Parts: sequence; structure tokens; C-alpha cells
Amino acid sequence: MPDFSTRTANWNDDKAALMQIRRVVFVEGQNVPASLESDDYDNDSWYVLAELTNGTPIGCARLQPNGKVTRIAVLDEFRRQGIAGQMLRDIITLAESNNMNTLYLHAQISAIGLYEQFDFVQSGDQFEEAGIQHVKMTRSSA
Ligand SMILES: CC(C)(COP(=O)(O)OP(=O)(O)OC[C@H]1O[C@@H](n2cnc3c(N)ncnc32)[C@H](O)[C@@H]1OP(=O)(O)O)[C@@H](O)C(=O)NCCC(=O)NCCS
Repeated sequence: MPDFSTRTANWNDDKAALMQIRRVVFVEGQNVPASLESDDYDNDSWYVLAELTNGTPIGCARLQPNGKVTRIAVLDEFRRQGIAGQMLRDIITLAESNNMNTLYLHAQISAIGLYEQFDFVQSGDQFEEAGIQHVKMTRSSA
């Protein structure tokens, strides 16, 4: 288990770290076009960043003001150790404290099991986005 912690982050202060993780995981790791990696939500969203104790960024997640959770990424060498799970927990807390009680995301098919653990439920058919198969998943707070 790596010694990591998570914290809320913002685009102004943490852009370099957030972009670095997204570039490595999505652009280099999944061949997502760099032009699709940044978008109009970057400035206005909330973020969670996972870091090693020495401050090295290893994971990120984004919560858009419209309730969509996006850009969930963990560097390859740190996967399957609960880091995305901790970031999702933080995103849900962040959303609820902002009275955002319904969240949704476009899950890559391989990650459906992760989101189900946090009560996201599949809705609709699979579709392609950035060349990868996805399905919409929604979560409502009790
Ligand atoms: C998806 C991703 C963010 C998961 O990060 P992670 O830190 O490894 O996730 P966690 O360790 O918190 O996983 C918790 C649980 O989710 C499930 N899970 C996570 N990754 C999975 C995978 N690739 N396949 C199947 N189940 C997976 C497992 O149930 C896992 O629990 P377990 O390890 O006890 O079996 C990471 O693999 C990643 O960055 N992938 C590339 C980018 C990506 O696909 N992002 C998601 C876009 S929707």
C-alpha cells in the first residue's frame, strides 16, 4: 500500500499536477487525442488530487458544476490499491457539501465495478467516447 493522501485541489494552483497525470494516463496511456483532454470545464470544476507523502501527484478526479465526475485517473504503478476509491469518496463528500445530490459519469467499461462500489448505477446503452467504450452511470444520495 503506498503512503498517499488525497486533498481538494483547484485549477489555478494545481493545473500542472492535474495536467501531468491526465496526459500520462489518458493521452499517453489510452491514446486519447490531446485536443480532447482539456475542455471548458477545467477552470470551473472541483478537483481531488492524490499525492505521495513527498508531494508527488499520483491520481486525480474532477467534479464539474453540473454533477458530472470526470478525468478519474491513477498512474499505472499505483493502481489497485484503493486510490481511485478514496478520490471517489472525497468527490462524493465534496458534492454533498455543495448540495449536489445527483452525480453521473461516463464509465469506461473496465471501471464499472469501481463505480458500483460507490452506488453508481448503469443507465442506457454502451457508447463510444474518445475511441473507448463507455456507459453512463448515475448516483443519487439517499
Ligand atoms: C480506473 C482507475 C482510475 C482505477 O484506479 P485504482 O486506484 O486502481 O482503483 P481502486 O484501487 O480504488 O479500485 C477499487 C476497485 O475498483 C475495481 N477496479 C479498479 N480498477 C479495475 C479494473 N481495471 N478492472 C476491474 N475492476 C477494477 C476493483 O473492484 C477494485 O477493488 P479491488 O482492487 O479490491 O478488486 C485506474 O485504473 C485508471 O486510472 N485507469 C485508466 C484511466 C481510466 O480508465 N479512468 C476511468 C475513466 S471512467
